[in-house]
Amino acid sequence: MKDNVLILAIESSCDETACSIVENGRNVLSNIISSQIEIHKQYGGVVPEVASRKHIENISDVVNEAIIKANVSCDNIDAVAVTYGPGLVGALLVGVNYAKGLSYAWNKPLIGVNHIEGHIYANFIENKDLEPPFVCLVASGGHTHLIYINDYGKYEIMGKTRDDAAGEAFDKVARAIGLGYPGGPLIEKKAKEGNEAAINFPRAVIDEDTLDFSFSGLKSAVLNYIHNKQQKNEEIIAEDVAASFQQAVVDVLVMKTMKAAKLRNCKIVALAGGVASNSSLREALEKECKKNNYVFLKPSSILCTDNAAMIGCAAYYKYLKKEFSDASLNAIPNLKLAD
Ligand code: KG4
Ligand code: ZN
Repeated sequence: MKDNVLILAIESSCDETACSIVENGRNVLSNIISSQIEIHKQYGGVVPEVASRKHIENISDVVNEAIIKANVSCDNIDAVAVTYGPGLVGALLVGVNYAKGLSYAWNKPLIGVNHIEGHIYANFIENKDLEPPFVCLVASGGHTHLIYINDYGKYEIMGKTRDDAAGEAFDKVARAIGLGYPGGPLIEKKAKEGNEAAINFPRAVIDEDTLDFSFSGLKSAVLNYIHNKQQKNEEIIAEDVAASFQQAVVDVLVMKTMKAAKLRNCKIVALAGGVASNSSLREALEKECKKNNYVFLKPSSILCTDNAAMIGCAAYYKYLKKEFSDASLNAIPNLKLAD
């Protein structure tokens, strides 16, 4: 096995077309992200058909830019990696087919990567000494998972959402209080001017025995609160709604994450996914970890939201184990990480 492995990674599972060149799993030589947020904003959310078309338009430029920025040639690339699920099928197919084309043309191995797995690996990029085991909360627009990473490629799902993902709840509540898309960063900004104790929204703990989450009840509680106020013609203070909603989400995420770490007697807790860029969540989890003498890891924001560097990092550990895909690799919209 070569001692200097370069992987070209592609991510196109939702509304970001991304390509990254990663050296030996943890050294990011380029990380190009073309976001479609400005386009989807006008529809209040991601329109799958539009996302696929934009990926098709953007992917060649994004890949070329990543190669130029990394200052490498295709001869130096050792493998081509790509997200093949979960995500929007049409969006995934663009990346998967482009990666297959490169792998065939360059005669380099192809590596299919699970998007959630990619989010977890964002933690390895900025923490060069990090080794499993650790507990990771992956909170994004499509997923809320508490995962015990036993070893590279070995995952135990300790808990997951039974309905809405945390990011999805942020997006829906943002729409209800008249903020745009994506809702997470806009709620966070509004919440900074609000009082998190103003409204007592429910903390959906489900029951004591499970680490599963549920956010649809909280979302409904916010919508009911708004409708109630509207019917009574009373003022809605969007800042307070945002702050109180955000606090309810953060409380549940922190409580269950700490419980998972304690259950596995695991002293390292990591965050991942778009919601992980929320500063209230980062601060609250950091505080709890400090209190319990746990190491707390949080990737910088650019590595929390969708990117291809995290896919390149995850692919490296598959490369070491020669876990290659063949030309039959397909997009799997509901791909599971583990049972
Ligand atoms: O990981 P990601 O980029 O894409 C998916 O895999 O879904 O996550 C996007 C989600 C969106 O729901 C967005 O509203 C949420 O992450 N998000 C945030 C923040 N930034 C992005 N949620 C809360 N606070 C933020 N600062
Ligand atoms: Zn994601």
